Amino acid sequence: MEIVILPTPADVARTAADAIEQQVRRGPSVLGLATGSTPLGTYAELIGRHRAGGLSFANAQAFLLDEYVGLPAGHPQSYHSVIREEFTGSVDFAPDAVHGLNGMAEDLEAEAAQYEERISASGGVDIQILGIGTDGHVGFNEPMSSLASRTRIKTLTRQTRQDNARFFESAADVPEHVLTQGLGTIRRARHLLLLAMGEAKAEAIAAAVEGPVAALCPASALQLHPHVSVLVDEAAASRLAHRDYYTDTFGRKPAWQGL
Ligand code: GLP
Repeated sequence: MEIVILPTPADVARTAADAIEQQVRRGPSVLGLATGSTPLGTYAELIGRHRAGGLSFANAQAFLLDEYVGLPAGHPQSYHSVIREEFTGSVDFAPDAVHGLNGMAEDLEAEAAQYEERISASGGVDIQILGIGTDGHVGFNEPMSSLASRTRIKTLTRQTRQDNARFFESAADVPEHVLTQGLGTIRRARHLLLLAMGEAKAEAIAAAVEGPVAALCPASALQLHPHVSVLVDEAAASRLAHRDYYTDTFGRKPAWQGL
C-alpha cells in the first residue's frame, strides 16, 4: 500500500483525477466507479478536464461498485442515477458503457452472478475508485464480509443507514439491502485508489492501513492487493501512527513511478 497524505480534499481530488486521466489516455480502459460524497471532487475535476477539451471517455467503460435493492433505476438516490448526475452524464462515455447492478432484479443472485461475468468479459477493471465507510466498509461490504466475497446481496448496518440518511428524507427511507461487488471482486481490479477526507474517516483509515487484515475492517483486505494508492487529506490521516514515514517516502519517490 502506498499512503499519500495531501494537504486538502482538493489535492486528493486532483491526484485521483491525474491517475484516472493517465489510465484513460493509455488506451481503452475499464474504470471502477464509487458513489458517496468522497469521489465527487474527483468527478468534478474529470468533468472539468473533459470540458476543457482534452480528456475523452469515449473508449472507456465503467462498472459501479454497488446499488441499493428496491430503488428503481430512475430513483434519484439509486446509484445508477447518482453516478449519471455526478459524473458519467457530463462526459462522453458511449451509450451502454456504464454498467451498474439492477437492484430491482427479480432474481438478485442471478443479477450478482451476471455482473461478475460482465466485469470479467470486459477484461477486468483497470483502476477502481473507492471510498470508505466510518465502519471500514468498501463498496457496501460491511464488517465481517468475507475477504474473498463476490458480488452479492448484503444487509446494511444501522450505522451505514444512519450515515447515508442525509441523502434520503430519513434513516428509515434508506434501503436495508444492497447489491455490492465483493471484497474478492474489488481485489481483482488492477489498481485501487482508496480516497478519504475528513476527521470522521480517520479511525477507519488507521484500521484499514495499519490494523490487522480482518473481516471486522473490510477495507483492511486491500492490504492483500499488490497495487493500492491510499489518498488522504491531513484530517483523514490524523490517526495514522506512521505519518512521517509515508510523507517522507512519497516525497522521495522517483517522479517517473507515478502512483
Ligand atoms: C457508501 C458507499 C461507499 C462509500 C461509503 C462512504 O455507503 N456504498 O461506496 O465509499 O459509503 O461514503 P461517503 O463517501 O459519502 O463518506
